[in-house]
Amino acid sequence: MLGNTFGRFFRITTCGESYGIGKGSGLAVIVDGVPPGVKITDEMIQKEMDKRRPGTGELNSPRKETDQVHIFAGIGPDKVTTGVPIGMIVYNMDTQKIHIDQYHDYKDLIRPGHAEYSFFLKYGECADWCGAGRASGRETVGRVAAGAVAKILLARESIEVIAYTKECMGIKAKEMGFEEIKKNYRKNEINCPDPEAANRMIDNVLEVKKEGDTAGGIIELIIHNIPGGLGEPVFDKFHAMLSHGIMSIGAVKGIEFGAGFGCSKMRGSEFNDHPYLENGKVRFKTNNAGGILGGITTGEDIIARVAIKPTPTVSVEQPSINMKTMKEEKLSPITRRDATLLGRIYAVIEAMAAITTVDALFMDRGWEGMAKLDKKWVDLKRK
Ligand SMILES: Cc1cc2nc3c(=O)[nH]c(=O)nc-3n(C[C@H](O)[C@H](O)[C@H](O)COP(=O)(O)O)c2cc1C
Repeated sequence: MLGNTFGRFFRITTCGESYGIGKGSGLAVIVDGVPPGVKITDEMIQKEMDKRRPGTGELNSPRKETDQVHIFAGIGPDKVTTGVPIGMIVYNMDTQKIHIDQYHDYKDLIRPGHAEYSFFLKYGECADWCGAGRASGRETVGRVAAGAVAKILLARESIEVIAYTKECMGIKAKEMGFEEIKKNYRKNEINCPDPEAANRMIDNVLEVKKEGDTAGGIIELIIHNIPGGLGEPVFDKFHAMLSHGIMSIGAVKGIEFGAGFGCSKMRGSEFNDHPYLENGKVRFKTNNAGGILGGITTGEDIIARVAIKPTPTVSVEQPSINMKTMKEEKLSPITRRDATLLGRIYAVIEAMAAITTVDALFMDRGWEGMAKLDKKWVDLKRK
């Protein structure tokens, strides 16, 4: 398997599977590029891990994972980074035989919506059949731990990353400003800051769950107070890097920025964000560009919406194929699953956004140092 590393200068490498090799199996991440002198404690990382953890409510998987993170490298005795790579591990705790046996029972079957078929094509007989292996949502544990480190670095620059449920089963949260979203962040199980919409979303998902089915939705991501000038104008456009990070999360089916696909219905004069001066700084009256022009951040908030598919595991009977016998069969899995991924996946989206932003900051600061830009342009970048 290739491609387990993300980032150019601030780089993360993850390993680990859903169940792994029995007692002692787990998920680890190495975070490269953390500067020395940054205070990082287990509690600071755990706060982010708890957002993604399963077994915490009616909408998410009953798998009881504590997701306790252990930092095993990169931090000195006084809880301050030493400038070397940070290593973190989370052990899999809820890997009971009953669940492993369930996966074993249909290990040769294609589970619709899952990665089984493509894994068969790529890894043949050796494909990991237990709990989706590396295609499992558990793979994202290391991303969230690394994202927590990235968030600590961003906090030093007053950059905030928030993601929340914008839409589920056709129910939309009302339009809200950043401060209101922040005030109502994580106040309900589906993490929708509009309480009235949240209740309706939750009721609908619980109805679908009763029928053994699952639901998808849309997560909105905001990167607040991000400086202008991040991103490189050709292959490493800021939104290209962000899309790479976010589209690499399982179950993510699309991403749009600012007005997004809605731009197809607009005129140029409507879509264009008009600049104005605010205390000597350039601002824009609207944010249809989602905070990015020519692949470079403008200093307006980055706004992206991410489409999340319904959880593939359903207990509704579905057609399948047995890859050993090459015969058609029926399948109705009984394994644990999230009725919707919305109440957990936002934490992974935040993590990938934070990692990408730190990486882009590294690139920009490094280049700016070499370029020795006129102070006027450097000052304009920061609000
Ligand atoms: C945080 C998280 C939790 C997930 N939990 C489940 C789950 O409980 N059951 C399931 O069938 N899929 C779950 N998934 C989705 C699958 O991992 C994913 O849909 C599958 O591997 C196929 O990949 P694709 O949807 O990207 O094509 C989860 C994904 C994430 C990111």
